[in-house]
Amino acid sequence: MALWETLTESINHYTGLSPAAFFTILALMYVTYKVVCGMFVAADDYAAVKRANEFALREPVQMGDVTEEELRAYDGSDPSKPLLMAIKGQIYDVSRSRMFYGPGGPYALFAGRDASRALALMSFDPKDLTGNIEGLSASELEVLQDWEYKFMEKYVKVGQLVSKNTSESKETGNESEASKHAENKSEEKQKEGHETQ
Ligand code: HEM
Repeated sequence: MALWETLTESINHYTGLSPAAFFTILALMYVTYKVVCGMFVAADDYAAVKRANEFALREPVQMGDVTEEELRAYDGSDPSKPLLMAIKGQIYDVSRSRMFYGPGGPYALFAGRDASRALALMSFDPKDLTGNIEGLSASELEVLQDWEYKFMEKYVKVGQLVSKNTSESKETGNESEASKHAENKSEEKQKEGHETQ
């Protein structure tokens, strides 16, 4: 506690800022740094980036119904899997923007998640990493709507989030079951995905 007080007093003394303002500026500087870094590639990383790009250029695979738990596996930690992100329960393949959403990217925290609330609030707070948009104001919902339009325009929709007990095939939590299910729906959803672009 004393340490925290010393820290906040020092911040105020040296910067003239309140701790909240100081940490907000620090977070914004971090995002700026990560975004700018993402624009450059170290020579050693070139081969890895090339492999990632090859993957990103693959045709998005339709997933059909996916639970939140299953979606987590598509957060970019496994480079052989597509990078997925959801807005308002609709899942998009964001593999082509691996520099934003892939590991180490400025928006990596959104990958494998429904980030609706965080996007509506323009927040990086982990507690806002949810598809629950209850209690948002009209202007926040409008911000979210703009994000949704951006994603519909830029990415292919590859599925939708379902609650765990909606689909019987999901109850095992078995990914191969999910894949089989996705395959069945593949053609139909592929069309739908392209329509939304
Ligand atoms: C200092 C603050 C920020 C800076 C400098 C910044 C900068 C940028 C830049 C340069 C891009 C690339 C735009 C493009 O090429 O299409 C971008 C994309 C993006 N920003 Fe930020 N941003 C900031 C804050 C935020 C916040 C607070 C959020 C949400 C919580 C956010 C979410 C996003 C997302 C999701 C994308 C990627 C959109 C896509 O997939 O095309 N940004 N940002």
